[in-house]
Amino acid sequence: MTDIITHPLAIDGKDPRNTRGDRISQDRYYSREWMQREWDHLWTKVWHIAGRVNQLPEPGDYIVHDFMHESVIIARQSDGSLKGFYNACGHRAQKLVRGNGSQDSWACPYHGWVWSTDGSLLDACDRDDFPQGDPVGKIRLIEVRVDTWGGFVWYTMDDEAPPLLKYLEPIPEIYRNFPFETQVRVRWVRVELGCNWKFSSDNFNESYHTRTAHPQVPPIIDQDHFTSRFEMYPMGHARIIQMGRPSLRDRVPEDQPHPFDDTLREWGIDPAKYATYEDKAMQGWLDLKEAKRKLGPERGYRHFEKLNDEDLTESPFGVVFPNIAFGAGAEGMSFFRWEPHRDDPEKCYFDLWDLAFPVEGQYRARLTETNVEMKEAEYDFRVYTGNDAVADLHDQVVFQDWALSPGQQAGWRSRGYQEPYLAAQETRVRRFHEVLNDYLDGKPPGW
Ligand code: FES
Ligand SMILES: [Fe+2]
Repeated sequence: MTDIITHPLAIDGKDPRNTRGDRISQDRYYSREWMQREWDHLWTKVWHIAGRVNQLPEPGDYIVHDFMHESVIIARQSDGSLKGFYNACGHRAQKLVRGNGSQDSWACPYHGWVWSTDGSLLDACDRDDFPQGDPVGKIRLIEVRVDTWGGFVWYTMDDEAPPLLKYLEPIPEIYRNFPFETQVRVRWVRVELGCNWKFSSDNFNESYHTRTAHPQVPPIIDQDHFTSRFEMYPMGHARIIQMGRPSLRDRVPEDQPHPFDDTLREWGIDPAKYATYEDKAMQGWLDLKEAKRKLGPERGYRHFEKLNDEDLTESPFGVVFPNIAFGAGAEGMSFFRWEPHRDDPEKCYFDLWDLAFPVEGQYRARLTETNVEMKEAEYDFRVYTGNDAVADLHDQVVFQDWALSPGQQAGWRSRGYQEPYLAAQETRVRRFHEVLNDYLDGKPPGW
């Protein structure tokens, strides 16, 4: 048994007294003015994820992150470091590269200027034809700040932004024993949705909807608000920690197979040994911790040795303000990220990544019925227009969230919209909007 310590920066995310009570205005979900303000004061400040570090193993490898009308290139340098640049030629701003790749230099498709992946100009046509001087040695690509954490490549467009680890505080400290940088992205899906991006920010900042929208979850993860822990942090991030055991309120009928039985069996525990439902849920959960601690390392999960009892079985769901959610399980991570559409406030992109700790065999993300091959996935883009385009993803919990998104967007446009009447367990929703308001008012936390 190891100690579970709530991080000292955490404040109670279930107590509305920890919010100011800002109203959640309707126009933020559809107006172009809001969208512009978000670009000016939010997206140009926060740290973004461009991709995974393991996409750039060698010097010359680069990835492109298109975000709204902006595009950024991150490139591995010959000294092993990473540099990031706006994807705009230093001559007359033509988009320099269109997708990920590996090259020693980038030749602009417009007038042929050749750029080193360190941002310096190597060559140009008619170098002697510039009365103001040879551009080589003079003009550089405009840089963005780059850093890495968790196996992700991050960048910010703001020179004044706090360093990445400060920005993410206290998440890196909480997850210091998880070797996320070793994870394999076994699923890499992006879905275009017909709703404002904040649909997902609201959605992942509460678990109140799960009992209604995701009835398959409570038998595996205890969704009860009174057994969960809610945390909010000064930089705007938040977590909910739900127990990795069946909820005692949502019982699977005794004559039906219980999904928790599979989890127990997977770790060598016979579910038949428990006399009652309560016993299986509560004692089975404790036995599961013990079994994982004992068997984990020999199954390839070496990091289990450093995890505490909470890390081993619980379901912590974190939200990195403003647009990332991650469920850091002991065996792997469900990772979600959502980004605004380039010009339509009523559309957004939703990224669904599964990140697995590399062990023998296949990866079985918690809550899904399917196994995924333990190898880096190919990028897979869909447009959601009902369920058809994503029908094969029906086993994903977020499939049910996507189905709610058009109805939510419609409600935000309705004359029937009312100020949300929030439960205590939805406190993080209001908090999200308050931090957003602070950004838009030019007062982001930590700057
Ligand atoms: S815009 Fe790139 S070379 Fe002219
Ligand atoms: Fe959901």
